[in-house]
Amino acid sequence: MIILKSKTEIAAMREAGRVVAQAHQIVAENIRPGVTSKYLDQLVEEFFVSQGAIPAFKDYQGYPASICTSVNEIVVHGIPNDIPFEEGWIVSVDIGAFVDGFCGDSAWTYPVGVIDTDIQKLLEVTKESLFRGIDKAVIGNRLSDISHEIQTFVESNGFSVVRDFVGHGIGRSMHESPQIPNFGIPGRGPRLKEGMTLAIEPMVNVGGYHVEVLPDNWTTVTVDRSWSAHFEHTVAVTAEGPQILTVI
Ligand code: MF3
Ligand code: CO
Repeated sequence: MIILKSKTEIAAMREAGRVVAQAHQIVAENIRPGVTSKYLDQLVEEFFVSQGAIPAFKDYQGYPASICTSVNEIVVHGIPNDIPFEEGWIVSVDIGAFVDGFCGDSAWTYPVGVIDTDIQKLLEVTKESLFRGIDKAVIGNRLSDISHEIQTFVESNGFSVVRDFVGHGIGRSMHESPQIPNFGIPGRGPRLKEGMTLAIEPMVNVGGYHVEVLPDNWTTVTVDRSWSAHFEHTVAVTAEGPQILTVI
């Protein structure tokens, strides 16, 4: 069952989204060679405490940190650690928080210093696929219209979309119905209605789409160890069109 939100509830979700976006701003200002993912995790957790926000990921199914930091060939769910970032790396930072009972969820892939041009293209294509997907989140479309748009844009640029992880509805829980694959044929799935709130999150690989989970049961890497990017926004379907909630 897809839970539709009232305008008041969407306004509350925008507050959670704003705190998540501000946390991303802190990450953007602090990420550079020599910084560790654990340090970024601490900065975000302290910021959440200062805002009265609750980290959505910490203790979720035993996850041990407030953010996910997925470096290079790590696709998602990288656990913050003490390894200093190096120039040329990419770090996908996924952040979620609850504010007044509603969740915001957003991911962004950050370059560390100067990166290769083909990796720069990976980031640009993944980000644009997210915004193209968001543009399809309009009343009357079907869910897989979002999925199809993301897949066709990504694949037309020579990259692949991950199959094993998907976007999701979001609200009072981080994960609500429906699941939102980043691939599929158009015109399938539920019709999009006013008040749906969706976390759309393409994960895109330079090489093949297959991924595997490492023995820590979280860290998810590409099978071919090609690098991967991840961009995510929490979005509301409204009469005025799609509204991105994870913005300042
Ligand atoms: N953005 C991810 C998701 O939507 C974050 C989950 S990380 C976890 O599922 F640690 F909380 F699992
Ligand atoms: Co998500």
